[in-house]
Amino acid sequence: MKIMVINGPNLNILGKRNKALYGDKTLSQIDTLLKKEGEDLGVDIVSFQSNNEGALIDFIQKSSSEVSGIIINPGALTHYGFSLRDALADSGLPVIEIHLSNIYAREEWRAKSVIAPIAKGQISGLGWRGYVAALRILADELKAEK
Ligand code: DQA
Repeated sequence: MKIMVINGPNLNILGKRNKALYGDKTLSQIDTLLKKEGEDLGVDIVSFQSNNEGALIDFIQKSSSEVSGIIINPGALTHYGFSLRDALADSGLPVIEIHLSNIYAREEWRAKSVIAPIAKGQISGLGWRGYVAALRILADELKAEK
């Protein structure tokens, strides 16, 4: 089984970016943790990051037929990325939305996610562990469906 892990704008600079909000792990460290967890679960991880909404959409369109589910931290596209939302919905795959910070405890505009209504669920505010939890949950659910 393969699961896609997508990260949107500015998540490539994790580790340098506001550590109080986003933690001190780099994206590549988070990817390594997910790959390790994936090995334990028998799941291959396909990861992709871009600062461009179009590139994220191209990747989802190109690769969705190869995977069983999507974990995504859309970055700020969470709050206005309607094309990204459509691409995720069009993939027909189960989607879990992830945020390192608690988007409900910050500026008012961050509390609105345009992705959430098409997601199976959302994890917000639990740092890098949120990605690992999402992977466990998604793998568990996909295995149960088989
Ligand atoms: C984020 C929250 C978004 O509001 C923000 O724009 C990000 C990161 C998070 O992981 O907490 O880039 O998605």
